[in-house]
Amino acid sequence: MTQRPTVTVSTLQAKKQAQEKITMLTAYDASFAALMDKAGIDCILVGDSLGNVIHGAASTLGVSVDDVVYHCRCVASAINGPLLVADMPFMSYHDRSTTAHNAHRLIAEGGASMVKLEGGGEERADTIHHLCAQGMAVCGHLGLTPQWVHRFGGFKVQGRSEQAAQQIETEAHQLAAAGIQLLVLEGVPAPLAQRISELIDVPVIGIGAGVNVDGQVLVLHDMLGMNPRPARFVRDFLATGGSIEQAFVHYIEAVRDGSFPAAAETYQQ
Ligand code: KIV
Repeated sequence: MTQRPTVTVSTLQAKKQAQEKITMLTAYDASFAALMDKAGIDCILVGDSLGNVIHGAASTLGVSVDDVVYHCRCVASAINGPLLVADMPFMSYHDRSTTAHNAHRLIAEGGASMVKLEGGGEERADTIHHLCAQGMAVCGHLGLTPQWVHRFGGFKVQGRSEQAAQQIETEAHQLAAAGIQLLVLEGVPAPLAQRISELIDVPVIGIGAGVNVDGQVLVLHDMLGMNPRPARFVRDFLATGGSIEQAFVHYIEAVRDGSFPAAAETYQQ
């Protein structure tokens, strides 16, 4: 385990203010997480993408709270630098008391410092406000939220029309007012992501959202070139890095110097 200052929500806020990019990757086990920590990653997300990359499912919908707790504990055992974020799985945050119970499990049993919930609107903002009032750090997730795959009719870029963009912007303001301390924006046109990251005080982490946000996240298996049908925003860092450790170093450098994502890895509209 490497020894470096532990990343907290204050670190992320300071980075946004200093216009220093925040780096995040997903991890699901101790071995990869330890290498990411050594490379200097700011945040690790135990994403419900584990449904895709660990379980081999077509969506994230079958992931349970037990699954995330288990993988979170594996990751937590190997790191001490990065802020550890845990995803709340599909239907694990549908009413106040279930949400609080499940979020508590991810923190107390999994070792997470922050929980992430998908979606916007008044009801979601109220749920988030309730978690924050219990002292939990919460990350929002808007845009192409994978748990909404069947409502969206597939994994489609969101916020392309003026009306849809306005709705995502409104939701970002609602979540910020509810108390989120980090926001993931996924699969949205770059100009919308830039506007939101300029308008809200909360650090915005993009994935398929262009370079003009406060940081980037990628799924581990995607950035190691293991996805046979990668999305436009994915870059294979193992191809340039030559080793897994160097892939993490290259990713961190490319996010920090703004060379990732490039225009060709971005949805302009
Ligand atoms: O589950 C996940 O890995 C995620 C990222 C794609 C942001 O939510």
